[in-house]
Amino acid sequence: MALVKLMPAAEVPPGTMRQAEIGGTPLVVCNDAGTIHAFKDECPHRNGPLSNGNFVDGRLICPWHAWEFCCDTGCYDYNPHIQLTRYAVSIENGDVYVDA
Ligand code: FES
Repeated sequence: MALVKLMPAAEVPPGTMRQAEIGGTPLVVCNDAGTIHAFKDECPHRNGPLSNGNFVDGRLICPWHAWEFCCDTGCYDYNPHIQLTRYAVSIENGDVYVDA
């Protein structure tokens, strides 16, 4: 397990998302009511950049065709077999780390 520091947790307050990067791979980081999640910033439909979409009520909404993904499960609303690629998140000393 290799933890990589992404950003201070304060940079992604509840109800927001932002893009980050790990080893050249773009990630989307979102904060759902105080719980921070991180996913590969690539929609499983046609690779849309999720961080350019919207984050509403715990759902990441792809900017290209509006597919919605629950950030708690990472699943597409209409087919739970279609999932985002999740990175395990931990918070240490106020910073967000992901398991690379
Ligand atoms: S690429 Fe994301 S919904 Fe189509």
